[in-house]
Amino acid sequence: MATLQMESGAFAPRAGEHELKGAVNVPAANDVAMPSLEWTPEVARQTAHLYDRVKTVIPAVEWPAFAPTIKAINDLKRQRNAVILAHNYMTPEIFHCVGDFMGDSLQLAREAEAVDADVIVQCGVHFMAETSKLMNPAKTVLIPDAGAGCSLADSITPEDVRGLRKAHPGVPIVTYVNTSAAVKAECDICCTSANAVRVVESLGAPRVLVIPDEYLAKYVATKTSVEILTWKGRCEVHERFTAEELRAYRETDEGVRIVAHPECPPDVIAEADFTGSTSGMIKWVKDHRPEKVLLVTECSMSDNVAAETPETTFVRPCNLCPHMKKITLAKILEALVYMKDEVTIDPAIAQRARRAVERMINLAN
Ligand code: 13P
Ligand code: SF4
Repeated sequence: MATLQMESGAFAPRAGEHELKGAVNVPAANDVAMPSLEWTPEVARQTAHLYDRVKTVIPAVEWPAFAPTIKAINDLKRQRNAVILAHNYMTPEIFHCVGDFMGDSLQLAREAEAVDADVIVQCGVHFMAETSKLMNPAKTVLIPDAGAGCSLADSITPEDVRGLRKAHPGVPIVTYVNTSAAVKAECDICCTSANAVRVVESLGAPRVLVIPDEYLAKYVATKTSVEILTWKGRCEVHERFTAEELRAYRETDEGVRIVAHPECPPDVIAEADFTGSTSGMIKWVKDHRPEKVLLVTECSMSDNVAAETPETTFVRPCNLCPHMKKITLAKILEALVYMKDEVTIDPAIAQRARRAVERMINLAN
């Protein structure tokens, strides 16, 4: 039986890596030249401790292709007084080798609020970068590829939300964090997959609109007596999983444990041993240490957890998020060299959108 729980940090920041407060004289955007990306003995020496983190998921023969860019990014973070917030779906060389804070959407929003550095580089999709800007407007927020979108965020517009308000007067509107700031501005409160049930129940209303993810809303409806109305959005990655394929995996291997994200269709969730946010899924694996597990979510996450739990075998039906995969080491380096692409939000929209996100954050405090 699947359960959704409030989850706490699966990946803590690494001591020392984000303590950049001492950096001074942050260079202007055009002051930094593209660093050399040569594979040298010195680069090998300076990145050996990072390779150790990913050696079970990145073959040694491939490391020379990653290491010079990783070193250049880590050097530039110090020069720019920047931190990297990396979502759990980033590839292992980003997640384990340049990320300062790693986590699910809720954890990254909280970390963004606490960032002391001048620059946040968001390694995730655009709505995540917008959320960081909302949480910490004084910082420069960069996204390595401004085209990194999300099928859920694209499924609904501010006009759609205004239409829903008219059609359902008095019904509070909870927006999943996977929406644009302009959509958040039209909603009462935000939620993530880690806290959706709690957010809905905090409203004390008999009926609540949970938008735009039809499947997340259906999942919440199974966990509360509040009547849930929704929208027709879907995650293009999670909607591809089927209950049939999961049953086939169980038939081949009875002992396999199945852990799903709530963006999956209801019959897929019904097959899971646990359902939770990406960090909730990671925590479940680390707590239970199963012999074999299938993470029903974006496939880079299995690599990231596998690097830390070598005793577990990961079954990998690989569904990639094409948006998350737009974020690469080369683009992160360019973002730091050229200080692009900067995320900005119209102040009138930002003020209203921030209210919805802060309401959610304050609930947990
Ligand atoms: P999490 O908040 O669980 O990390 O989910 C974000 C997301 O986009 C999943 O597809
Ligand atoms: Fe959006 Fe799905 Fe990609 Fe997550 S995995 S960013 S919900 S398209």
